[in-house]
Amino acid sequence: MTLTQQEKQSLVDLANTARQHAYVPYSHYPVGSSLRTKSGRVYTGVNIENAAYPQTMCAERVAMFKAVSEGERDFEVITVVTDNAGSPCGGCRQVMAEFGLDTLVILADGNGRIVKETTVAELLPDAFRPEDLENR
Ligand code: THU
Repeated sequence: MTLTQQEKQSLVDLANTARQHAYVPYSHYPVGSSLRTKSGRVYTGVNIENAAYPQTMCAERVAMFKAVSEGERDFEVITVVTDNAGSPCGGCRQVMAEFGLDTLVILADGNGRIVKETTVAELLPDAFRPEDLENR
């Protein structure tokens, strides 16, 4: 299904609003994410940091894990909103790839301006995928 510009913007705005709940006492770099499943459900996520730094969880993974934990695995689009339209980290790209390479990924800045539209396949070429564990 193709998303309209208005639908894309609404998802970005949702992620940007969610960003207010980012817990970022260490980096001061709030990230908000939203995703829409092919079934039309929408989930948001924010980054949640920890005094034990490696226990920090990225916004995109929170959104994806919320969806998967509710039985939704088919993602249509994932948005990521940061002050500077930063790109998803490698770990988040790997989790995205688990659930599909065709998912649209929209990056936006703190004003909600869409800066880049890409796909998981473009962000993570030659991804290691579930199929790679078959026929060993
Ligand atoms: N962060 C995300 O939430 N998503 C990314 O894809 C990149 C990094 C968070 C983790 C940490 O809380 C902060 O941004 C700085 O790395």
